[in-house]
Amino acid sequence: MPTMTEEEKRDSYRSVAQAIAGAVAPTKNTVSRMATVSCLLSEAFPHYYWTGFYLVDPDVEDQLIVGPYQGTMGCLIIPFGKGVCGTAAATGETQVVEDVHAFEGHIACDTQTNSEIVVPVYDAAGKLMAVFDVDSTEPASFDSLDKECLEDIMAQVFATN
Ligand code: SME
Repeated sequence: MPTMTEEEKRDSYRSVAQAIAGAVAPTKNTVSRMATVSCLLSEAFPHYYWTGFYLVDPDVEDQLIVGPYQGTMGCLIIPFGKGVCGTAAATGETQVVEDVHAFEGHIACDTQTNSEIVVPVYDAAGKLMAVFDVDSTEPASFDSLDKECLEDIMAQVFATN
């Protein structure tokens, strides 16, 4: 169980956000940026067990395909509306799930996951480009502070020109 206080968590997000801003500066390439964001966030928070992106499939409507991630093998395809990632994509809203086993339709790519947060990722034009998914082996690892900080990081990296 993460033992961080709210203040420690906010400080950690602040410093990782700075590290990310510096690291991604050399390129606008989406795959390179997503790989770097996944790596730095997963290194910053030991309870991040699976950390990565599902991309809006350019070839199949209303479908997500796996993108850059850190962790055990993720499912390759998730339809919009299915599971936590598909719900975030379909609603455009961040999903904070304290207990994935109680989430109807949760997709268990890895049986060790117990809680999860999924943040929609928008480009500078406000178009959904991906979702960012973090899974934890502990229950209730994520809260409104994770939501706020991760939404800020995604906007900073992917929605600025
Ligand atoms: N648990 C997710 C699927 C993706 S994996 O966990 C990597 C979901 O229900 O959307």
